[in-house]
Amino acid sequence: MHFHILTLFPEMITQALNTSIIGRAVQRGCISIDAVNIRDYTADRHNKTDDYPYGGGAGMVMQAQPVYDAWKAVLQGAALPRPPRTVYLTPQAPVFTQDMAKELAQEEHLILLCGHYEGIDERVLEEIVTDYVSIGDYVLTGGELAAMVVTDAVARMVPGVLSNALSGSTESLEGNLLEYPQYTRPEIWNGKAVPSILLSGDHAKVDAWRLEMAKERTRQRRPDLYAIYERTHPVTEKKKKVRER
Ligand code: ADE
Repeated sequence: MHFHILTLFPEMITQALNTSIIGRAVQRGCISIDAVNIRDYTADRHNKTDDYPYGGGAGMVMQAQPVYDAWKAVLQGAALPRPPRTVYLTPQAPVFTQDMAKELAQEEHLILLCGHYEGIDERVLEEIVTDYVSIGDYVLTGGELAAMVVTDAVARMVPGVLSNALSGSTESLEGNLLEYPQYTRPEIWNGKAVPSILLSGDHAKVDAWRLEMAKERTRQRRPDLYAIYERTHPVTEKKKKVRER
């Protein structure tokens, strides 16, 4: 999968995404991440990419021309027959979820557009953006951190990026449950023992315990998610009877 990130601060992207699991996935060729400097495409002789907002008001607005030409250059550079999905990171959008990450991971190419200042001229957004995505109900100084969050979450759903094929699907938020607690050596730390069931070697029991812990954790920490889980996993009569016993 190929990520193309349109930004005024490409070094922010390259520095952060060159490390750890995502960096190694790039090295192995599972994914590519191309940070495109919007300023390289300005037609302004002073390299300007922003201007005052029509109608007045505080701050500056990113101009349409450099953004559009940077976007066009991605299409041409990758010889794409039709424009790929283009995500604009903005707080004025639905909040990003694991389901969105999975869905975007099906794409071969993804363009992420980072805004700055008071935003981007609406006309170019109308022309190129297919998806508007926020990473939460707070305002960042620019879209770069949001683009990195989305890139990381999408990239790890691409086959081959995670070494353990299972770990992308068995963890927090899969099926609307948070992940169960994890333990590693030593068996006793600070006077606290690892739950004995994890040492039993009985995989069925371990799985059942983990599911119960995941449910309990979700109920306590994310009642909103737990309500969805309960709605989508109605307790059958048989299970109810077992529970009541
Ligand atoms: N740009 C500024 N704030 C943002 C947010 N919360 N999500 C996505 N992009 C943003």
